[in-house]
Amino acid sequence: MAKIDFGGTLETVVTRDEFPLEKARKVLKDEVIAVIGYGVQGPAQSLNMRDNGFKVIIGQAPEIKKDWDKAVKDGWKPGKTLFPIEEAAEKGTMVQYLVSDAAQKLLWPRMRPCLKKGDALYFSHGFSIVYRKQTGVVAPKDIDVIMVAPKGSGTSVRRNFLDGSGINSSFAVFQDATGRAEERCLAIGIAIGSGYLFPTTFEQEVWSDLTGERGVLMGCLAGILEAQYNLLRKHGHSPSEAFNETVEELTQSLIRLVAENGMDWMYANCSTTAQRGALDWRHRFRAAVEPVFDELYERVKDGTETGIVLDANSRPDYAEKLRAELDEIKNSEMWRAGAAVRKLRPENWGKKKE
Ligand SMILES: NC(=O)c1ccc[n+]([C@@H]2O[C@H](COP(=O)([O-])OP(=O)(O)OC[C@H]3O[C@@H](n4cnc5c(N)ncnc54)[C@H](OP(=O)(O)O)[C@@H]3O)[C@@H](O)[C@H]2O)c1
Repeated sequence: MAKIDFGGTLETVVTRDEFPLEKARKVLKDEVIAVIGYGVQGPAQSLNMRDNGFKVIIGQAPEIKKDWDKAVKDGWKPGKTLFPIEEAAEKGTMVQYLVSDAAQKLLWPRMRPCLKKGDALYFSHGFSIVYRKQTGVVAPKDIDVIMVAPKGSGTSVRRNFLDGSGINSSFAVFQDATGRAEERCLAIGIAIGSGYLFPTTFEQEVWSDLTGERGVLMGCLAGILEAQYNLLRKHGHSPSEAFNETVEELTQSLIRLVAENGMDWMYANCSTTAQRGALDWRHRFRAAVEPVFDELYERVKDGTETGIVLDANSRPDYAEKLRAELDEIKNSEMWRAGAAVRKLRPENWGKKKE
């Protein structure tokens, strides 16, 4: 494993140099990897592994027709590489449990009897295991329990694989029954196309992930964008001006500079007027949100947030409810203005006229 200095703290990571694809193929040469669930992570991870030359089968409920049909369209063959959930889980020696976190709870009574001594049960999130009092997911003692959690949507896991890059993933072993849990875990992490792998525990992964998506990555992001847009509108700015100053400049220019070379680089490439204001105001904003973040982390750790997820996403109409809430965002003035702004981008303007 490589030792890398992350801002003064020495951490261990596993790159493709230490764990090349050839080594992963050797470690997993006798394994049949059963991917359960063909939603977002399922297709991405299974297709990457198939393209990398691993033995992969899919377990998907045929009655969820859209996902079954998607699997068939992606080249999985019913009865050969595509099976109902239990059949695939029984055939697999490594079982990737990639249905939604709420579905992992619902399906567990059907999954558990399919797991055989020496199998590996694989997660991409610490959710079900860490909150096992809420989910009931308690693995048998004679199997390995491992996790590789890609730090990105399944869509990016596949896209980045196809363009030759990769998504960074964390990895952890919760239970080592075979003595081979770590090498199986690392091998499957490389097999799914991870850029590099960094160690974590199931607890650290789920606490940081639930905080991140509720916080800066998604919840906080949407909230602060809305707050600024609404402020500008309240003071008489037009929708196009408010959207451009809030979202378009961020996504089309500034955040790309942050990704390229860090926050100071983005600041340094803006006017000295912008830099002066940003350097002063970042402290005000940090102080304002710190108490909210404290509350968020507490609610993640004490199971309040996972309780809400399990309750809401276990209902039969959960997908329609989520869609209705997403539509509310889509149909708001701000994001309708955004659709108009996107259409005006030079690359889209050309397309529109064709
Ligand atoms: N998305 C990410 O960024 C990300 C990143 C890393 C790890 N993960 C983890 O990866 C795992 C899978 O998540 P995901 O992103 O692929 O998407 P997901 O939408 O949370 O779940 C995937 C699939 O679960 C299916 N499902 C839901 N209820 C079901 C039920 N009762 N029976 C059978 N299947 C059911 C869904 O089908 P329907 O749509 O038909 O309900 C969907 O196809 C989760 O543990 C997640 O936390 C996700």
